[in-house]
Amino acid sequence: MGASTLIDSLIELGYKNIIAVDISEIAIKKLRERLGEDKSRLVKWIEDDITQPKHIQNLSNIALWHDRALFHFLLEEKQRQMYLTTLKKVVKKGGYVIIASFSLTGAKMCSGLDVMNYDQTILSNFLGDDFELIEYFDYIYHMPSGEERPYIYTLFKTMYCSL
Ligand SMILES: C[S@@+](CC[C@H](N)C(=O)[O-])C[C@H]1O[C@@H](n2cnc3c(N)ncnc32)[C@H](O)[C@@H]1O
Repeated sequence: MGASTLIDSLIELGYKNIIAVDISEIAIKKLRERLGEDKSRLVKWIEDDITQPKHIQNLSNIALWHDRALFHFLLEEKQRQMYLTTLKKVVKKGGYVIIASFSLTGAKMCSGLDVMNYDQTILSNFLGDDFELIEYFDYIYHMPSGEERPYIYTLFKTMYCSL
């Protein structure tokens, strides 16, 4: 979630049932402040760690999971497996998953942290047969400093029967 303006745009477009998840209380607070009280009230806020979830896995029937620039921070396989377990548990059958991560030509570190680099095939293999890759594209994000940050954007559809 972070300081992204995605939630602002979704509210503007009239989307409902928006859930924002972040491990950082500060990130949530900043975003809530920027949105203001009225818009913040339209969002369910969850402070949780996707690698050791305490609240996220209580969600269900999620139509769209959106992750920009989180997954690439998960360096350990067990963290990634927990991410996948949670994703499978909460996203509904026929729902969609967007994952945008640093691409193979992208940065190897971010904010002083090591990251993993991905392409659509690696992400597809990771998610497995329960997810159909619908679309993907390369995208170069320009940091405020002007520095280029190549991303791979992927869109999957869930094929499994969620419990
Ligand atoms: C690089 S920022 C991306 C923010 C936003 N999605 C965007 O595109 O601008 C990564 C965000 O993921 C959050 N994050 C990192 N590790 C996390 C974890 N294990 N569980 C939940 N959130 C995490 C960070 O607090 C941060 O807000």
